[in-house]
Amino acid sequence: VTKNSARVDFADLEQVVIKLFEYRGVPSEDAEIVARHLVRADARGVHSHGVLRLNFYLAKLDSGTLNPATVLTPKQETPLLKRYTANNGIGQVVATQAMGIAIAAAADNGIGIVLVSESNHFGIAQLHTLLAAEAGFIGITLSNASPAFAPTGGITKLIGNNPWSVAVPSEGPFPIIIDMANTVVARGKVLTALEEGRAIPEGWALDKTGKPTTDPAAALQGTMLPLGGHKGYAIAVAIELLTGALSDGGSFDQVVYPGVPDRISNVSHLFIAIDPAMLGPFGYPERVSSVIKRIKEVECSPGVAEIYLPGEQEARREAESRKNGVLLPPRILDVVSKQAQHASIELPW
Ligand SMILES: NC(=O)c1ccc[n+]([C@@H]2O[C@H](COP(=O)([O-])OP(=O)(O)OC[C@H]3O[C@@H](n4cnc5c(N)ncnc54)[C@H](O)[C@@H]3O)[C@@H](O)[C@H]2O)c1
Repeated sequence: VTKNSARVDFADLEQVVIKLFEYRGVPSEDAEIVARHLVRADARGVHSHGVLRLNFYLAKLDSGTLNPATVLTPKQETPLLKRYTANNGIGQVVATQAMGIAIAAAADNGIGIVLVSESNHFGIAQLHTLLAAEAGFIGITLSNASPAFAPTGGITKLIGNNPWSVAVPSEGPFPIIIDMANTVVARGKVLTALEEGRAIPEGWALDKTGKPTTDPAAALQGTMLPLGGHKGYAIAVAIELLTGALSDGGSFDQVVYPGVPDRISNVSHLFIAIDPAMLGPFGYPERVSSVIKRIKEVECSPGVAEIYLPGEQEARREAESRKNGVLLPPRILDVVSKQAQHASIELPW
């Protein structure tokens, strides 16, 4: 977010994005889901995965590599454990449906586990687990993604940054949500450094020969580095085994970056919902609130005003965005304007 950023009303932005998807034949109900997810990503401050992604998704709809109609077809179903193909549907809609199925199974049985293959980029993982937490369930989601880095010691880009999220319900004032991918930083930050003519810090990426680099152009030809060295690599392998392999879906380079308009993405996900109330009447949300309280009571380092819980800053930013408008940098507003112009949609701002 730069000093030229502008605030756009949440509902106005949502309506424009809905129309952009409807224009491509996406059913209104699904257009509403994907629009809400993209706008909420910006509202929560995750601009890399907000309306900026319209360019990717709409290009894929135009080239026929993203199915406007999202339908989950069962491959295997037991009361607790279910596996579906998403038939190349829209990732955010797939995830909303799949987490809904996991929650329904958890309401009956205490836990629901849903695997999905042949899906697409599902945006920010936290909104899927939040769906569970808002309904009083623990939500867990994992997804594979296109190759981002090499296995530790290797040169070839093979492992996805494989995002994951855990959300738990609390008594308030916000659910705790952990949500991250497994590279030190997103590749988008290297692209920004290249555009701005800046070097990148050592430790972000390797060049194509496997040597550390601070040159963003060399980094883009090479690979990103996993979070925490071999640990990020190991976590990403675990996620690959629990998504692509366990859903019998695409893995590694069978998963294609969503910015490639003419190829199917072939992403796999896992969704888990757990009903803590089934573990007895001890009051899990109260326990979570006491975790929040204990952490908040820790003495701050010099110069630090407040300790945050994971998900807290995102929740605060969303509340602020809903009240005062979503703060968007000019280049993202430009993406929305150009797309709206192309579809002859009038901007309300
Ligand atoms: N769909 C995909 O294929 C895909 C791929 C990569 C990333 N993503 C999404 O990109 C987003 C960004 O990922 P990221 O790895 O850059 O996340 P991040 O580094 O911004 O945040 C990671 C976690 O740390 C928490 N956090 C951050 N600062 C904190 C602080 N000061 N105190 C307490 N907690 C704090 C956040 O709440 C979050 O849970 C995520 O939403 C992720 O799902 C999606």
